[in-house]
Amino acid sequence: MAETIPDLRHVPKSRAYDELKQHTDAILDGIDDDVTAMATVAALLHNAFGHLWTGFYRTVITGQLLRVGPYQGSLGCLEIAFGQGVCGAAAAERRTIIVPDVSRFSGHITCDARARSEIVVPVLDGRSDLVGVLDIDSDRLDAFDADDQRGLERIVSWFADN
Ligand code: SME
Repeated sequence: MAETIPDLRHVPKSRAYDELKQHTDAILDGIDDDVTAMATVAALLHNAFGHLWTGFYRTVITGQLLRVGPYQGSLGCLEIAFGQGVCGAAAAERRTIIVPDVSRFSGHITCDARARSEIVVPVLDGRSDLVGVLDIDSDRLDAFDADDQRGLERIVSWFADN
């Protein structure tokens, strides 16, 4: 398989996410493995948009602990408690959180000093259990909006559908 990752940095977001959703579903066709899917989604999103950090934290103790999964970027923190930082808050509340300026989010966990804004999206399986969260960090302020939320929630719906 020779799949290339498109550069979507200058494409309108809604079209970019449509393209990535199609890409993701095509690449993962016939695959039933969450780690493989996480690695694929992280690689696609990270390289298509040129983010600072793109990856997953997985639920390892329900309601208590997240541990880092497949990601792209600089070294991520290994473990995050539910309720801690943006990832832990999104996991505990099971909702997408957009942080336009991480310096204004009390309790933000700084793994990379260049991070300025982020979005964290909960990842649910087919039984609505929390598999983990998708965390994307940008070196730009206010990089994420409702289009990102919609697009990313659609991409991670793979985990509920497979
Ligand atoms: N941004 C996260 C921490 C994880 S790393 O930045 C990869 C947070 O505060 O939840």
